[in-house]
Amino acid sequence: MSDSYRAVVATGHRRFELVERERHDPPPGQVLIEVQACGVCHTDALAVEGDRDRPIVPGHEIIGRIGAVGEGVDASWKVGDRVGVGFLGGTDTTCEACRWGDFLNCADQPLTGTTIDGGYAEVTYARSTGLVRIPPGTETVNDAPLLCAGLTMYSALLAGRARPGSLVAVQGIGGLGHLGIQYARALGHRVAAIGRGTAKRELAAELGADEYIDSLAEDPGEALRRLGGAAVVVATAAAGAAMSGLVSGLGRNGELVVVGADPEPIQVRPEQLIFGGHRIRGSLTGTAIENEDNLRFTLRHAIRSYNEVFPLSEAAKAYERMISGDVRFRAVLDMRG
Ligand SMILES: NC(=O)c1ccc[n+]([C@@H]2O[C@H](COP(=O)([O-])OP(=O)(O)OC[C@H]3O[C@@H](n4cnc5c(N)ncnc54)[C@H](OP(=O)(O)O)[C@@H]3O)[C@@H](O)[C@H]2O)c1
Ligand SMILES: [Zn+2]
Repeated sequence: MSDSYRAVVATGHRRFELVERERHDPPPGQVLIEVQACGVCHTDALAVEGDRDRPIVPGHEIIGRIGAVGEGVDASWKVGDRVGVGFLGGTDTTCEACRWGDFLNCADQPLTGTTIDGGYAEVTYARSTGLVRIPPGTETVNDAPLLCAGLTMYSALLAGRARPGSLVAVQGIGGLGHLGIQYARALGHRVAAIGRGTAKRELAAELGADEYIDSLAEDPGEALRRLGGAAVVVATAAAGAAMSGLVSGLGRNGELVVVGADPEPIQVRPEQLIFGGHRIRGSLTGTAIENEDNLRFTLRHAIRSYNEVFPLSEAAKAYERMISGDVRFRAVLDMRG
């Protein structure tokens, strides 16, 4: 096997470079992963266009095989094992920053593809504490997006206040949203999908949405009230302003779960929260262990990511499809290309 491997590094605002790197032995506590596939998540924007240190290899929806095991790694991880890595790169100790959820400034909790190199590469290195064991039945290329997009929706919905049968809305039908509709359906909810325009109406129904709300044609809060009010709305669109109108669509004690990241504030009147008993909560992806539960859940319920597949050399094109909102619905890099 060759000692060098290809990696795509983000070098500046939406600029990428394909480079050759030398393999090295994994440091203590880490494994070398021969990456087979990596999804392209909207959060990669933090690495590609955020105010971060570059160059960095983006990507945190990784599936591959262990190629080498570093010192001190638990004996249960062996060369050849199928593993995945999500956004949270595994933590060995706790520090003051991550105690407060300030992961971007945490000295210990690496964020895959954001504060450490990720999966737009044929090889990556990961802490064994962040590894996800991939169950038989999970497909390498098709299912890579489940490691972040899927997990994020799984965690957001499970921690919510909705019961089976209650109305749950998913705002934004992109990488996260198209999976969220399927998870909400599988959890037994009545599902409303909120998109911009009518282009995704039919696809939303195919994914399991009972209702479709076009936020360009009607106020989504009013539309949800007409449907009886949502127990939970999971907002995936990276648009804080668009989330403000969703609070009025919550039923009594309903909850807005925010997963889409945006610098724009969400505006809400205190009376809405008090009299409605509403809650607004953020939700951050999930841990490696939760990811293993997530993968088993997706297998049981035949939840699938709809992907456009690109070779590693076309990572820039894949990113562009994602960030422009054109991709249906997730771009995935296949390292065999
Ligand atoms: N909390 C977490 O742990 C976590 C994990 C992963 C990702 N994220 C964040 O979640 C967000 C979504 O990620 P993603 O990978 O799913 O992105 P994505 O694939 O780009 O999808 C976002 C979707 O939102 C839709 N959208 C944008 N503005 C909208 C609006 N005003 N109303 C309705 N829909 C709207 C877009 O569809 P149209 O353009 O077709 O309308 C797009 O399809 C990003 O901010 C990402 O950083 C958070
Ligand atoms: Zn992600």
